[in-house]
Amino acid sequence: MEKIKIGIIGTGGISNSHVRAYKQMDDVEIVAGADIVPGKAREALDRWEFPEARAYETAAEMLEKERLDAVSVCTYNSTHAECAIAALEAGCHVLLEKPMTVTLEDAQELRRVEKKTGKILTIGFQPRYDGRMKKIKEIVQSGKLGQVYYVQTGGGRRRGIPGSTFIEKRYAGVGALADIGCYSLDMVLNALGYPKPLTVSAVSYDFFGKNPKYTPPEDAARFSVDDFCGAFIRLEGGITLDFRMSWAMHMDTTGSTIFLGTDAGLKVEPANPESLWGGAWDGSCGNVTLFHDEFGEPTNTPIPLHDAKEDRFFLKCRSFVDAVEQGLPAPIPTSQIIYNQAIIDGIIRSCQCGREVEIHVEEI
Ligand SMILES: NC(=O)c1ccc[n+]([C@@H]2O[C@H](COP(=O)([O-])OP(=O)(O)OC[C@H]3O[C@@H](n4cnc5c(N)ncnc54)[C@H](O)[C@@H]3O)[C@@H](O)[C@H]2O)c1
Repeated sequence: MEKIKIGIIGTGGISNSHVRAYKQMDDVEIVAGADIVPGKAREALDRWEFPEARAYETAAEMLEKERLDAVSVCTYNSTHAECAIAALEAGCHVLLEKPMTVTLEDAQELRRVEKKTGKILTIGFQPRYDGRMKKIKEIVQSGKLGQVYYVQTGGGRRRGIPGSTFIEKRYAGVGALADIGCYSLDMVLNALGYPKPLTVSAVSYDFFGKNPKYTPPEDAARFSVDDFCGAFIRLEGGITLDFRMSWAMHMDTTGSTIFLGTDAGLKVEPANPESLWGGAWDGSCGNVTLFHDEFGEPTNTPIPLHDAKEDRFFLKCRSFVDAVEQGLPAPIPTSQIIYNQAIIDGIIRSCQCGREVEIHVEEI
């Protein structure tokens, strides 16, 4: 069988995890890479030990000159849409890094092109492959909670502003919200079965990012995104979603993820008291407890969960390659992630206008 020919668009930080995964697969070969920073793709391909692979300084040139089956789009958020659209239109299947895009408009355009070309487009939320995340979904989907009516999620870091391209609006579009917030949103929306979002009222702040007391002065000077964001989101089915995400704050945690249901509640604690996550970007979560009544008495049942041993980054790429080879549907489909993106877009709009906004997602 011929190997799947893959190109990498954007050869920065996260591309290393894609290549590490692809390198473990006998049925895949990386034949090219593109990065707009001159020399960066060549340097990366050599470092990955692919001296034969061709380097390009635009995705367009790579897509035109190579006969690729698939690409990983690993660019910063603001160029996700243009790169993924170009790749789909060139006949490639696409594994696109999270968040899907910055705006809902771009995400919808991407969905239109996906539909038109019939190519696979999957979004890189690797926590989906964590056994503990799957267990949380299994519990929520089991009906054990009764009707779920209120969900709280988010979390973040006490000090953890990333720097690099993540803190400038022209590259990242948004800050903590899209960098790590999209994971919390995916964790709970996926568990709930991705209900449609209806409205959102949100706030965001940048007190730490812009302050040289907390952020290196050269980073503080260019900081142009959020370092904290909170939102109140109404979902279809009478479910309310209370969300907050932090890159930096004077607090240990913004709380656990909780699902309140008419028959039981589920608490998912942050994984690591050191890093103070609740967002579970890498799939990790802490204790999971079911709150219910037994014999008329309030009872708390810890759910035993195995340690996360899965190589989530590998499974993310492997499931994409499996879909390409076997003609399977996208493992993490845009029909779900469009709602994640619609919430992010709604949060951005609500923060701009200072009030609740409606969310409309056109069917594609
Ligand atoms: N799944 C994860 O765990 C995870 C972790 C980190 C980052 N990410 C996501 O991956 C993306 C990239 O993050 P990163 O840390 O690698 O950023 P980065 O800035 O290190 O790398 C992005 C690269 O893309 C290149 N680029 C930008 N636009 C391009 C274009 N039009 N054509 C070709 N190259 C282009 C840049 O020059 C840069 O080298 C972000 O969207 C981020 O949210 C995901």
